[in-house]
Amino acid sequence: MLITIDAVYVPESLPEASIREWTSRIAPDKRRKIAKFVRQEDRYRALLGELLIRSTVIGHTPLRNADIRYAYNEYGKPSLENGTNFSFNLSHSGRWVVLAWSASRLPLGVDVEQIAPVDFRIAESFFSPKESAALFARPDEERLHYFYRLWTLKESYIKALGKGLSMPLDRFTVMPTGSDGWHSPEAPDYRFVSFPLDAGHLAAACSSSDALPGEARILSWDELQERLLREPPLAES
Ligand code: COA
Ligand code: MG
Repeated sequence: MLITIDAVYVPESLPEASIREWTSRIAPDKRRKIAKFVRQEDRYRALLGELLIRSTVIGHTPLRNADIRYAYNEYGKPSLENGTNFSFNLSHSGRWVVLAWSASRLPLGVDVEQIAPVDFRIAESFFSPKESAALFARPDEERLHYFYRLWTLKESYIKALGKGLSMPLDRFTVMPTGSDGWHSPEAPDYRFVSFPLDAGHLAAACSSSDALPGEARILSWDELQERLLREPPLAES
């Protein structure tokens, strides 16, 4: 089963008219949720993420934009309602919105993180003892990158399972395979990939299938809009 990872760079600023136009293509409950964000960048990421999911679903399932409804598991992981043969997972951070998707029911998890300075002591609470040891064994100049590699990989696994932070993060270890890949001994049925989106952002994805691509396909904001051009606004509820 083919898996695709699509990434959209979030513009610094968008014309108000285009925000209004595209906000009208998403469901009223999501519109209200997005309107509550204080920071503009949070609104942009949430809106572009929702548009990325919708434009992908209408391109790869029989559903039209107006037919898209989500169901959520008890930890908040969204999937398409009514059993459509389509699975996806979204992540957004910094300047990027990333979607892993497949026209199948494969478990999928994806995570992107903007690289920012961290206090490595937090590794003791989030990482397994083996991961912490590997982190502190890295040369100083590589440690921050390695931290984000592990962070995004671990997050992509808990997102694939859909259990959120109810899944203890220190109970499984993600480590290099020795041939440029990543694996987890506690999750032998899962595949992992890790790749940069640009110098300031790392992404990772996880699935039970070998079909995970090694990197993301970059979609521009213009391409994303084109995919939705023919969709009429959705009514207020
Ligand atoms: N499982 C998988 N995906 C989920 C989910 C769940 N239980 N709950 C929500 N999502 C999806 C949604 O599409 C959500 O998008 P939305 O917020 O626009 O609705 C998206 O994942 C958010 O993912 P991301 O951008 O990567 O957010 P996050 O990294 O802040 O949080 C969580 C991801 C909610 C799934 C959860 O794992 C969490 O809170 N993590 C905290 C981070 C942490 O401590 N990580 C330690 C790693 S070592
Ligand atoms: Mg994340």
